[in-house]
Amino acid sequence: MSPDLIPDGIVILDFGGQYCHLIARRIREMKVYSEILPSEVSVDEVRELGKTMRVRGVILSGSPSSVNAKNSLRLDERILELGVPVLGLCYGHQLLAQMNKGDVRKGEFKEYGGRTAYIDRAENILEGMEMEEPVWMSHGDTVYSLPKCFQILAHTDSAPVAAFSDPEKGIYGLQWHPEVKHTIHGDRVLNNFVFGICKCQQNWYPADAVEEGIKAVKAQVGGGKAVIALSGGVDSSVAAAIVGKALGDRIMAVHVDHGLMRMEESSQVKEAMERIGVNVKVVDAKDRFMMRLRGVTDPEEKRKIIGEEFIRVFEKEARLFGAEYLVQGTIYPDRIESGTTRHADTIKTHHNVGGLPLHMDFKGVVEPLRDLYKDEVRALGTKMGLPRELVWRQPFPGPGLAVRMVGEVTEEKLDALRKADVIVTEEVEKSELASTSWQYFAILTDTKSTGVKGDERAYGWTVAVRIVESVDAMTANFSKAPWEILERISNRITNSLPQVTRVVYDITNKPPSTIEWE
Ligand code: XMP
Repeated sequence: MSPDLIPDGIVILDFGGQYCHLIARRIREMKVYSEILPSEVSVDEVRELGKTMRVRGVILSGSPSSVNAKNSLRLDERILELGVPVLGLCYGHQLLAQMNKGDVRKGEFKEYGGRTAYIDRAENILEGMEMEEPVWMSHGDTVYSLPKCFQILAHTDSAPVAAFSDPEKGIYGLQWHPEVKHTIHGDRVLNNFVFGICKCQQNWYPADAVEEGIKAVKAQVGGGKAVIALSGGVDSSVAAAIVGKALGDRIMAVHVDHGLMRMEESSQVKEAMERIGVNVKVVDAKDRFMMRLRGVTDPEEKRKIIGEEFIRVFEKEARLFGAEYLVQGTIYPDRIESGTTRHADTIKTHHNVGGLPLHMDFKGVVEPLRDLYKDEVRALGTKMGLPRELVWRQPFPGPGLAVRMVGEVTEEKLDALRKADVIVTEEVEKSELASTSWQYFAILTDTKSTGVKGDERAYGWTVAVRIVESVDAMTANFSKAPWEILERISNRITNSLPQVTRVVYDITNKPPSTIEWE
């Protein structure tokens, strides 16, 4: 990155707290860059980040464990001597207190949920706070006291030291979670740290990543050729768009039409990408997928076959094109969760469709979105002129409709499922429900039952409707969709699809269920 483009940034050290990404997101929303590193990094690894950001401060996250536990997670003490302010949140607060000879013990009560913090000194990190602040707590250990040099800034009914500071040393601690929206003035506290204490400039904009990304791809690939598997999801589409701008016709986006896509999906993806100048090859591989799926009913077996075939088709296209580089739409949470570090140089990689390894060796892997969150990727996609439907597309599984169909995959079932899916999508998108739902789709169950169509007995399939709310797909709740919408969906499906006699609504949460049905 050229020095004039290096943004100010905050490093977040991840001690395993559930809100770690949320801290990073909140800081980025302030137009200040942030990166998450594992808590065990050395001071040199933090310094290393200086290549991509001006490290202005460090935040220590929360953790499910106790600072007093055997083998508890520690901090490289030299990080406190970096010369930048350090803020500990929850576990981070307790750890800083303990490292500075404070008394940290298991609290009399666990504080969980909404609590009141009584502000003793509304200064530095707590500048501008009211006397009593609603805050979000989640802790078992408590800081009972600190050496005199520390200022106690706040307490709660059961935590005598709920916030502290030592501006001389540049150390700050908060027992509560300012990153969680239930902490009403959480943003103010983070603002105090990021701007008031760390003196960050607002000089990071996700949209700048387009220009940066183009430059980086040019530098990495030089005169070589690259290939990307284009699923039609927002990540691969935006990655293809950026690399397309950098390489022109030296990138080929391969869209494998396995015959398991939704209505008109493959042609829509191709059209949208070509409109912004990306070279797309749609490979019609329906026959080979259908042939291999014939008679297969086991869900895992179906996934395996689809994954294998996908890789075969994709590898063949990559070879034919002479691609030396593989482009992937990996985004920041993918990278953090898989434990790869920013400077790791992956040469042989995994392809996420079907979850199988590629057997091809590429000279390198290009990941233009590796530092961005999903909504930042969406902002980029919009800036690059991708259509709304693509930018806001619901997650759609790599194995496509095969995981929304119980039992064998057949053309007949696919045809009915596609039509039912269009109806669900249209009805949900006509209502407010679309904006609050994570996914909404139809499933073809393997159950047939008797119905009456006209005056005749009919024996047909059961279509299930799934509408779920979720933030990250790890857990999900079925949507309490209005009856009128469900009734319209049911009427339209049974009226227009003679082969369907029954429509049911899935009222299972995840867990115990999953979102898809297979
Ligand atoms: P489940 O069904 O496990 O799905 O609750 C969680 C989320 O993941 C999506 N999903 C997939 N995405 N390849 C993907 O890219 C897959 O094989 C796959 N299977 C499930 C699913 O749509 C949901 O959002």
